[in-house]
Amino acid sequence: MSGHGTPLPMTSSPCGPLVGEAQVPGDKSISHRALILGALSVGETRITGLLEGEDVLDTAKAMRAFGAEVIDHGGGAWSVHGVGVGGFAEPGKVIDCGNSGTGVRLIMGAMATSPITATFTGDASLNKRPMARVTDPLALFGAQAVGRSGGRLPMTIVGAADPLPVRYTVPVPSAQVKSAVLLAGLNAPGQTVVIEKEATRDHTERMLTGFGAELTVEDTDEGRVITLTGQPELAPQVIAVPRDPSSAAFPVCAALIVPGSDVLVPGIGLNPTRAGLFTTLREMGADLTYENPREEGGEPVADLRARYSPDMAGIEVPPARAASMIDEYPVLSVVAAHARGTTMMRGVTELRVKESDRIDAMATGLRACGVVVDEGEDWWSVTASGPGAVTGGATCESHLDHRIAMSFLVLGMAAQAPVTVDDGSPIATSFPIFESLMGTLGAKISRGSA
Ligand code: S3P
Repeated sequence: MSGHGTPLPMTSSPCGPLVGEAQVPGDKSISHRALILGALSVGETRITGLLEGEDVLDTAKAMRAFGAEVIDHGGGAWSVHGVGVGGFAEPGKVIDCGNSGTGVRLIMGAMATSPITATFTGDASLNKRPMARVTDPLALFGAQAVGRSGGRLPMTIVGAADPLPVRYTVPVPSAQVKSAVLLAGLNAPGQTVVIEKEATRDHTERMLTGFGAELTVEDTDEGRVITLTGQPELAPQVIAVPRDPSSAAFPVCAALIVPGSDVLVPGIGLNPTRAGLFTTLREMGADLTYENPREEGGEPVADLRARYSPDMAGIEVPPARAASMIDEYPVLSVVAAHARGTTMMRGVTELRVKESDRIDAMATGLRACGVVVDEGEDWWSVTASGPGAVTGGATCESHLDHRIAMSFLVLGMAAQAPVTVDDGSPIATSFPIFESLMGTLGAKISRGSA
């Protein structure tokens, strides 16, 4: 599967109970960061549980292009021989980040304070997404960017030869922007300060500390103030990547809406900056429990157990929770279509600039499947009358967005008639085993239209 070739229609038909254990792949955010920070340290970083989805594989290729040695030992075990902070070589070819906003934005940050030039591109989805949110702060370090109109890829970044440290307040809640600035700050002298008004996923901060950087985090009236001391020597690490909560969301939500289901999803990262969906589902009345809570690789982890939950009710999702579940709103809307009442989701403008406009993509497909959806610029809501009311029987467009494709396939599992997605190939960017794993649990997903 790949999001760059012939579209791959996929159809999910109503199925019997989903039962069993779902071993979802490694965390995408942590996998990108492990490769990039491994490439910026001196010596060999060893990684297990790396997500081998297309997005992360594109980042691995990019790290090689910048001079790191990246070796795939099989079965999710990788090693990276880094070149050290400031040691990136100038790539000899265009860096293609495929579908990955995280990949391109973090790598732009990582190279922007070295005296090298690199050109970045991506697929049709990535080439539509805004890059000024990253190139604006990188310009403060002294880097220059030339791209297409509207700050779109393809884009060339000329790294700063004499970078200055920066103090930057991130104007949108974005871990990618925060991370790009911190990675750029690594090769600037003195202290780079990043302030975020709303906390976003903190994997970069945790991992920078793990690699030996001097980094402090303070909660102040201004927001979360992160101070990084530049030009450290990063020490290579051994990293066990936890399983991805954003991927776990799909078998969990499917189990909640398919009658009779009981699914265990072991070893899921429950970093509080990522776990908002699970809190929300429990507030809606989902039978979702955390078993065997523990810490692995510096991240909180638990086994999630999800059982069919016929009595869920719509709720107002607190806007302050948005950053901790930003990738999970599409599949939450599928659960909301099986709950009683209205699920209101506010403060989610960022959903409009993801791999697709996720509000528009979900609203269109849900309505075609008989679900009531209302929307405004920064909010949307789903109103439903409980289990069994989704008619299905439609073809929904995935817009080159893996999470939209998987959400509609979950919708089909509990609809009255099959749901088709026009192109399921982008699923390979983050969850390449989705189809087989869901099949093992009892889902009926086939390739082609209904
Ligand atoms: C990510 C941050 C989020 C998220 C994306 C992964 C990251 O994007 O949607 O899937 O790994 O930093 P934004 O930073 O644009 O919110």
